[in-house]
Amino acid sequence: MAQPISLSRYLTRAVEAQHIDQSLARLVEQLARAAQHIAHTVAGGALYGVLGEAGQENIQGEAQKKLDVLSNDIMINALDGMGDAAALASEEMEWPLLTGTPQAPYLVLFDPLDGSSNIDINAPIGTIFSILPRPQNADFSSPQSAVGAFLQAGTAQRLAGYVLYGSSTVLTLTFGQGTDSFTLDRGRAEFILTQAQRRIDADTAEFAINMSNQRHWEAPVRRYIDELLAGKTGVRGKDFNMRWVAAMVADVHRVLSRGGVFMYPKDAKNAAKGGKLRLMYEANPMAWLVEQAGGAASNGTQRILDIEPEKLHQRVSVMLGASHEIQRLGQYHQQ
Ligand code: F6P
Repeated sequence: MAQPISLSRYLTRAVEAQHIDQSLARLVEQLARAAQHIAHTVAGGALYGVLGEAGQENIQGEAQKKLDVLSNDIMINALDGMGDAAALASEEMEWPLLTGTPQAPYLVLFDPLDGSSNIDINAPIGTIFSILPRPQNADFSSPQSAVGAFLQAGTAQRLAGYVLYGSSTVLTLTFGQGTDSFTLDRGRAEFILTQAQRRIDADTAEFAINMSNQRHWEAPVRRYIDELLAGKTGVRGKDFNMRWVAAMVADVHRVLSRGGVFMYPKDAKNAAKGGKLRLMYEANPMAWLVEQAGGAASNGTQRILDIEPEKLHQRVSVMLGASHEIQRLGQYHQQ
């Protein structure tokens, strides 16, 4: 039987093949370490006293959960002071954190705990991360001035990934050579490659959207979903099934595992903010993972990865997964 491939071995091979450099490999090792720590904390749940509200709000104006705050601290502890990242940006922090090594080659962004509403009901949650190159002319004189360095389109990402804390802990990543998944072997305390080169079929019969927002949707999304709901009796001529985990990591993991479409469109309720999901922390990394698996990701009118960010905490409309479905949504938006 072939030897299982550990994340460390996989990264060593990627460095040898010159797909990534040592710095990037070290950052991934640290991200994986942080993920193990978060997985352990999540698994402790009520026993560790980590459930419930933290009693404060984040920059997004959302009530923070204890696990949001704890996971953010774990990520920072793992990445700060390593010398490989010049600054860190988190969905939970208003401004980037300067690591004190401004010459370091990379910037790391993360949503430490995605799907917070699932924490207290023991349902799947996750961590999303991405790594950008540090621009030559970056200004790290203050956290505020450092924002400019992060405002790069998703096409500039050097690495993107997520960790899903579900019935098992799965880490999925890409550095532009396909999308690969690793499962945490708790006994050995290491991630083992379990699904290499994931593929998303161009067609599907499954979609994910929060249906309670239906009355707020824009016309193209309403038309698209109406057609899916009409099933065999409508223009699509086949029945569609619906799933909604309410944690983007878990919904995207399902799309990578068995296909489908995931959508959180801009609607009348979230239009003033530009959408619900964050471009830099959620949409960009997921869009790249999906594209690297043969899927597509768009805001309806533009490829997500081509969007030039204007703000660190920018929100965006997200539609991703089966490429024929994303094309169809694009056509409906054009019409
Ligand atoms: O980051 C926001 C998030 O938790 C996503 O992970 C998830 O897809 C979405 O919000 C769930 O939103 P809703 O509460 O509308 O179901």
